[in-house]
Amino acid sequence: LNIQFIEGMVNYVKGTDGVKRHPEEDYKSAKYPEWLPTWDPTETFPAQPENKGFVDRGLFADPTYSNLFSNDSKFERIDLTPNFGTEVRSVQLSQLNNSAKDELALLLAERGVVVFRNQDLQDKGLEFNKQFGEYFGPLHIHSFSGAPEKYPQFHIVHRSPDDKVNPKKVTSLHTDVNWEVQTPGVTIFAILEGPSTGGDTLFVDSQTVYERLSPRFKKLLEGLSAVHSNVIASNVNGNGFLRTPPAANSHPLVRIHPVTQKKAIYFSYKFTEELEGLDREESELILGFLRQRILAQPDLHLRARWELGTVVLWDNRRCLHTPILDFEGSARHCYRITTLAETPVEKFEDLEDHVKELSLKLQERLNISN
Ligand SMILES: [Fe+2]
Repeated sequence: LNIQFIEGMVNYVKGTDGVKRHPEEDYKSAKYPEWLPTWDPTETFPAQPENKGFVDRGLFADPTYSNLFSNDSKFERIDLTPNFGTEVRSVQLSQLNNSAKDELALLLAERGVVVFRNQDLQDKGLEFNKQFGEYFGPLHIHSFSGAPEKYPQFHIVHRSPDDKVNPKKVTSLHTDVNWEVQTPGVTIFAILEGPSTGGDTLFVDSQTVYERLSPRFKKLLEGLSAVHSNVIASNVNGNGFLRTPPAANSHPLVRIHPVTQKKAIYFSYKFTEELEGLDREESELILGFLRQRILAQPDLHLRARWELGTVVLWDNRRCLHTPILDFEGSARHCYRITTLAETPVEKFEDLEDHVKELSLKLQERLNISN
């Protein structure tokens, strides 16, 4: 017996196996039916433990990018702003060898966002994509978003033409799933179906936002930790379905990147609740100032435009992002692979010893190549 129920504007169907899926006709009309979101109540996982020993692949990279941008390929590299965001053409992600993937991780640490055009990654299937992501770190499992069956590691974004979208949510700038203990680094987002215009992703360079603060203000932020939580989101969006228990964790408000040794503001407009050890009003004063600073510096913003075949990668440690919700009436179907990096730390000395060692060696190679 199938039980029909409505979530948003879309009808989902609960099968006899308890798995919630799109109705049959959606599987017939979808361009990528195996990527439609499903919710399997038997897929539950314990709270994510701290996983010590993470080493960023960017630490092993050749800083001359001799594999990713080899002399015999016809690649084009277009920097989207002077310090933040790069578009790459004529490089196929699915063909990269491990050395090129290491250089991609370095490029992401340095540029924050990299847009690839005309990709075939989305045609390579679930298992290939999973393994592609796993190269960069363990994959995050989202507590309540839809995922392809048997692949809870993918976060599916799916809107039908009759789904309501609320453009007022445009300022929900965030860094993904920052309530976890070990938070995301390299993040891969690919489009399967989408509107011819609209649905851009807005990115903000949270590293330069930090660097532009005065030395006295940086001093004020030193040692502050922010509490990030998905407890409310789990209750509102989970609808009773949760793969992992709701989580709240605090992380330094300023975190250092192990690859570049540069610091960035680390918080979300939506999932960051307060700064520890301050009165609510004091906490709001600082977070409110940072929210305002971020929006007031458009030279640190970029909009990634989506076309079929586009894959955008970003490093969740050094930028914020938000979807632009201006595509009501169109279908949009995307997937995200979220790889977990180190547990955030503020100071270089707080990184794990072997990471510090590799990071210093990379800096030597960077100095030689510059
Ligand atoms: Fe996001």
